[in-house]
Amino acid sequence: MIELSHIYKTFTGPVHALRNLDLKIQKGEFVYITGPSGAGKTTLFRMLAGFEMPTSGQLKVAGYDLNQMSSNDKPQFRRKLGVVFQDFKLLKDQTALENVAMPLLIRGEKKARSLERAKVFLQKVGLEDRQDMRSETLSGGEQQRVALARAIIHQPDIILADEPTGNLDMDRGEEIMDLLEFCAQSGMTVLVTTHDLEMVRRRKQRVISIKNGEVVKDGRA
Ligand SMILES: Nc1ncnc2c1ncn2[C@@H]1O[C@H](COP(=O)(O)OP(=O)(O)OP(=O)(O)O)[C@@H](O)[C@H]1O
Ligand SMILES: [Mg+2]
Repeated sequence: MIELSHIYKTFTGPVHALRNLDLKIQKGEFVYITGPSGAGKTTLFRMLAGFEMPTSGQLKVAGYDLNQMSSNDKPQFRRKLGVVFQDFKLLKDQTALENVAMPLLIRGEKKARSLERAKVFLQKVGLEDRQDMRSETLSGGEQQRVALARAIIHQPDIILADEPTGNLDMDRGEEIMDLLEFCAQSGMTVLVTTHDLEMVRRRKQRVISIKNGEVVKDGRA
């Protein structure tokens, strides 16, 4: 489902954000990505989502060879992904419900049906009573949960969640991780970055640790 070989990403500076990454992640796997601030986690996600190209190396995601992908293929490819950005990237002047429905509306599904389904997903993240609030008026943790509902509503093949519990209290964080693990059990491939090593230890999933852009550990917690 995801295959990286000899991936390097160097920004001008030079900053070596990723060095020689070799990774294979199968369909339905749940993987935590950990590592200190600046380790390269978000850079890795941006590359897997096709927002950045590697400086060198081969990258295959959801059946697409990203080195060869044309801009015509990109919309189709993106639909296979659900991304929770570290800074959420919600549409500020739209309601929670409209934000969650967005992936379905983009696909051309009917508005009424999309909003109905969005209600179900807002419920899954415990925000049914916030559906009509403009997203910029929600708390940080609420916005984060809206972003997660939006990322999973179209049942993507791959979920990339960049610190999805960073703004949540412990109980809410556990609920969100249960939801993401359920997504993996139903066949989605789920990658989650986190700084919460206690949670990672409790969850006993595959953990890939990155430091200075290199994989330093890959195994079960
Ligand atoms: N567009 C860019 N231009 C230059 N340097 C960049 C760019 N994007 C990221 N970097 C650098 O690459 C390194 C990795 O950044 P990245 O955002 O991937 O870290 P991270 O592991 O997600 O950190 P955090 O835990 O703080 O979110 C950092 O040193 C950062 O400054
Ligand atoms: Mg980051």
